[in-house]
Amino acid sequence: MSNPFETYKFNRSGKSVTNRAVLAALTNKQSSNDGILSDNEINWLTRRAKGGFGIITTGAAHVSKDGQAWEGELGVFDDIHIERLNVLADSVHSYDSLILAQLFHGGMHSPQKLTGNTPLSASKVRSEVSESGFARPASEEDIDRIIDDFTSAAVRCVQAGFDGIELHGAHGYLISQFLGTKTNMRKDQWGGDRKNRERFLIKIFQAIKNNVPDSFIVGVRISPEINKIGIGLDDSILLAGDLRDEGVDYIHLSCWDSFGHSRDYPDDPKTLTEWFVQSCDDLPPIISTGGVWSSVDAQNLMRQGADLIGVGRVGIAHPDWANHLSNADYDPDRPPFTVAQLSEAQLSDVFIDYMRKWEGFVAD
Ligand SMILES: Cc1cc2nc3c(=O)[nH]c(=O)nc-3n(C[C@H](O)[C@H](O)[C@H](O)COP(=O)(O)O)c2cc1C
Repeated sequence: MSNPFETYKFNRSGKSVTNRAVLAALTNKQSSNDGILSDNEINWLTRRAKGGFGIITTGAAHVSKDGQAWEGELGVFDDIHIERLNVLADSVHSYDSLILAQLFHGGMHSPQKLTGNTPLSASKVRSEVSESGFARPASEEDIDRIIDDFTSAAVRCVQAGFDGIELHGAHGYLISQFLGTKTNMRKDQWGGDRKNRERFLIKIFQAIKNNVPDSFIVGVRISPEINKIGIGLDDSILLAGDLRDEGVDYIHLSCWDSFGHSRDYPDDPKTLTEWFVQSCDDLPPIISTGGVWSSVDAQNLMRQGADLIGVGRVGIAHPDWANHLSNADYDPDRPPFTVAQLSEAQLSDVFIDYMRKWEGFVAD
C-alpha cells in the first residue's frame, strides 16, 4: 500500500513530488490591490514548503480583471504579476516542493463594487454582488476573451518558473457555473447537454495545453456535487472521464468531508473519492481534499484511492504537518487556535482576521 510520505511521479509531465502532501488552494487576502503577491503571502507559502508539503498551491488567482471575487486576491491577469510570482517559485523550490497556481474567474461572484463591471455567468442568474441583482450571460466574445485570459495566465506562470497550474472548476465560480444546470441554461454550444456545459472548461484546458511545455502540470479541481447550481455526482464522474480523455495531469476532488458520503446517494456506503475511483477506469492522479487532520486520516484517504492528500485548515495551523506524516500517531491540535499560535504559524494579521470568518478556527 502507498504511504503518504512516499514520492510520487506525474507520468504525463514527468515531474516528481517528494511526498503525497498537497497544500490545497487557500485564499489568504494578503495580495496588494492590484493582485501582486506580498511578502506575507510568499512567507506563509514558503513556510509550508519548509514544513515538507510536496505540493504548494496558491490561493485562487483571477485571470481577468473582471474575475476578481474578493479584496486582497492574488492576480495573474497581467505581466506585472510575473516578477513576484517568480520570487515565490524560487522560494518554494528551495525546499524541493512543487508550486502550482490556482487559476479562476469568479463569474457571478465577482462583485461589481470591486471590478466596476456587471458580473457575468453562463446565463442570466441571480447575483447578490451585482447592482441589478443579476449576472449577465457571457457573450461569445466574453467566452473567447476569458479562455485567452486563462491561457495567458498559465503562460505567465510558466515564465515565473511555476511547475503547473490548477484550473479552479469547483465551488461555484465561473467554470462550475458553466457546468451547473441551474446556472447554465444556454441553448448554444456552451450550454444544454453535459458535453456542451463541459465545453468551456475543456476549451480552457486545451488552449492552455497548446501553449505550455509538456512538463508543465495542468490539473483541474472540481466539486463532486453542488446542488445549488445543479452539479450532481453522476455528471461529475462523467466529467472526470472526459478530463482523463483530454489528458489532464491530475483531478483534484474538493470534498469538504472526504469521509462523508454523496448527497445524491446518501444510502450508498462509498465515500466521494471511492465513487470516482470505482466508477472510472484509468483516472489520472487523484488529489482528494476535505476533513483530513491526522496521519491516520491521510492513510485512510489513500486507502480510498487518492494518490495525493490535499489539506487546508490543518496546514494553516500546522505548517510542519507534512514532515510529521511518517509518524503513524500524528494527530495535531484542533481548532480553535489563539492569535499567538497562528502568528507563530506565519499568518499575518490580515490572514488571521480572515480566518475569523471560519467558524471556530480562531480563539478570541
Ligand atoms: C481559509 C480558506 C481559504 C480557502 N480558499 C480556497 C481557494 O482559494 N480555492 C479553493 O479551491 N479552495 C479554497 N478553500 C478550500 C480548501 O482548499 C479545502 O478544500 C477546504 O478547506 C477543505 O479542506 P480541509 O478540511 O483540509 O480544510 C479554502 C478554505 C479555507 C479554510
